[in-house]
Amino acid sequence: MNHFHYTDGVYSAEDVRLDQLADEIGTPFYCYSAATLERHYRVFEKAVPKNSLIAFSVKANGNLGVLKTLAKLGAGADVVSGGELKKALAAGVTPEKIVFSGVGKTAEEMRLALAVGIHQFNVESEPELEALERVAQGMNLRAPVTLRINPDVDAKTHAKITTGTSETKFGIPFVHAREAYKKAAAMKGIAIVGVDVHIGSQITELDPFEAAFTKVAGLVRELRADGHAISRLDLGGGLGVPYAHDNQPPPDPVAYGAMVAKITGGMDLSLIFEPGRLIAANAGVLVSRVIYVKHGDAKDFVILDAGMNDLIRPALYDSHHEIVPIREAAPGTPRPRYDVVGPVCETSDLFAAGRALPELKSGDLVAILSVGAYGAVMASAYNARPPAPEVLVHGARWSIVRPRTDHDGLIAQERIPDWLAD
Ligand code: LLP
Repeated sequence: MNHFHYTDGVYSAEDVRLDQLADEIGTPFYCYSAATLERHYRVFEKAVPKNSLIAFSVKANGNLGVLKTLAKLGAGADVVSGGELKKALAAGVTPEKIVFSGVGKTAEEMRLALAVGIHQFNVESEPELEALERVAQGMNLRAPVTLRINPDVDAKTHAKITTGTSETKFGIPFVHAREAYKKAAAMKGIAIVGVDVHIGSQITELDPFEAAFTKVAGLVRELRADGHAISRLDLGGGLGVPYAHDNQPPPDPVAYGAMVAKITGGMDLSLIFEPGRLIAANAGVLVSRVIYVKHGDAKDFVILDAGMNDLIRPALYDSHHEIVPIREAAPGTPRPRYDVVGPVCETSDLFAAGRALPELKSGDLVAILSVGAYGAVMASAYNARPPAPEVLVHGARWSIVRPRTDHDGLIAQERIPDWLAD
C-alpha cells in the first residue's frame, strides 16, 4: 500500500497535489512519500524476527532525505561504495548499522569503512579478503567480516538482476566456502562474524529464497563445527514488489519472515536484511509533462519531457511501470493506445508500448509509478539533459531534496584543455 492517490480528481502524494508541485518546480521531477517509506519499513520490520538489523540498500535510493527518513525509524544501511558510505553517514545512519557489500571494494574504501567502524564487510572473494587483511593490519585493526556465499540458486528473476548462480560474478562459490573461512580464520586483521547471501532482486517467489537460506543455514552449522564463531547471518535483499495490477503478487513480507524464522529459529544468530526495492519502489513516482502527442502511421506517441536518462529501467530491463494521468479521467472515458516515449534520441527511450490511457494532449501531466527504487539513482545526463530533481513529501509538507541542475551547471562540470583555449 502507498500514499499516492486521487484527491478531488488530482493525483496527490499524501496531502500534496502533484499538479501544484509541477507548477511550482517544473517537470520532470521525482516525488517520494515519507509515509510510504515509513509504512514499508514498518511492515518489513514487523515481518522479520525481532532485533534483526534492517540495512536499507542505499543503491535503491541514496537520496539524503530518504536515507534520513529511514535512519530515524532505526534503519541501517547496506552500501557498496565509499560514496554510499559517506551518504549513509551524512544522513545520520550510525556506523554500527552499516554493512559494506560489493565485489570491488578498493583499499581506500576499506580504510574509510574501518576508520569509522562499520558493522561488517561482506567480502565477496579471496583476493578481496587478502586486501582487507593488509589494510586492517596496516591500521592495527580487525575487520568484522562475513563471506558472501554464492549458493548457486536460480532466483527466477530477470537475467540482469540475478546474482546467486555460479555464472555470476558475485560471492564465493558454495563449494569453496569452508576453505575460504579456514583461510580467513588464520588472518590477524580479520574477525569472522558471520555468513552473507544475496541471490538477486525483484524475486517474486519464496522458493529460491528458501533454497538459498536453507543451504547457508547448513553451512553455518558446518562452519561452527569447524570451530568458527558465526553469530550473524546476512540474508541480503531481493523481495519483489508489485509493478502492475495484473501481475502475480510477490510474496507477502509476513510469509517471507515466517520462512526465515523457520529456517534460522533456534540457531542463535543475529539476522541482517538488506531490502531496497521493497521499501522504496512504491514510495516514488516520476511526474512528467506531455510535450507532444504525435499521430504516427502505425501508432500514436505520447512524447514526455522525462526520458530514459531520468528512468532507465524500461530500456534496461523491459520493466513495466504503471502510468496515470495527474488529472483523473471520468469513468468510461475512452482509452486509446499510445507508445509513451521520452525525447532522447534512442528507440529504447520508451516507457510503455501500446499502453491504454485516457486521451492525452500537449501540456497534460502524467505520473510514472513505482520508481522510488532504481529510478533517480540510475539517472544520467545523456543528451545533456540534467537529471530530474527529487522532492520528498511529508503530509502536507514538501521539500526539494535534490535540486534541478541547470544547463550551466552541467557545462561547469567540464573543462576545455589548454591547447584548445582561444
Ligand atoms: N544487497 C545486495 C548485495 C544487492 O546487490 C542488492 C541489489 C540489494 C541488497 C537490494 O536488493 P533489493 O531488495 O532492492 O531487490 N537496478 C536493478 C536492480 C539491481 C539490484 C542490485 N542489487 C533494477 O532496477 O531492477
